[in-house]
Amino acid sequence: MTYSAEELLEAARRVAENAYAPYSDFRVGAVAVGDDGNLYPGVNVENAAYPSGVCAEASAISAAATAGVRRIDVVAVACIDATREDQSYPCGQCRQRLNEFRVDTVIVAGLDGRPRIHSLEELLPFGFRLD
Ligand code: THU
Repeated sequence: MTYSAEELLEAARRVAENAYAPYSDFRVGAVAVGDDGNLYPGVNVENAAYPSGVCAEASAISAAATAGVRRIDVVAVACIDATREDQSYPCGQCRQRLNEFRVDTVIVAGLDGRPRIHSLEELLPFGFRLD
């Protein structure tokens, strides 16, 4: 089963409804497509001790890894509180996390609601890996 960019963004928006973001009110959803073809959702989960919070991408990657996935083809990210066009781009730390699982393609939502499709290479050139 393959998914269109629109379908993946829609799935990311749906899962963002479950984000736990009482401190920022910035609800983010991510969907990882594992090389097994399955979808692994994640949301940001904040914490009163702010640095203990995790990003949606990190949650989705953890869900995939927990299922035994070691390669992720695509990650779609959406923020349902977006007020700026580029608000759902992955943070630097998450770009490194995506790199670990060899993510090829990152889909984010533009303010117009349409997908913007990037290679991870564009978002993280010369990314660090140990192999
Ligand atoms: N956040 C994500 O979930 N993904 C990103 O790539 C950027 C930021 C979350 C972290 C925090 O809960 C909220 O957005 C505001 O920074």
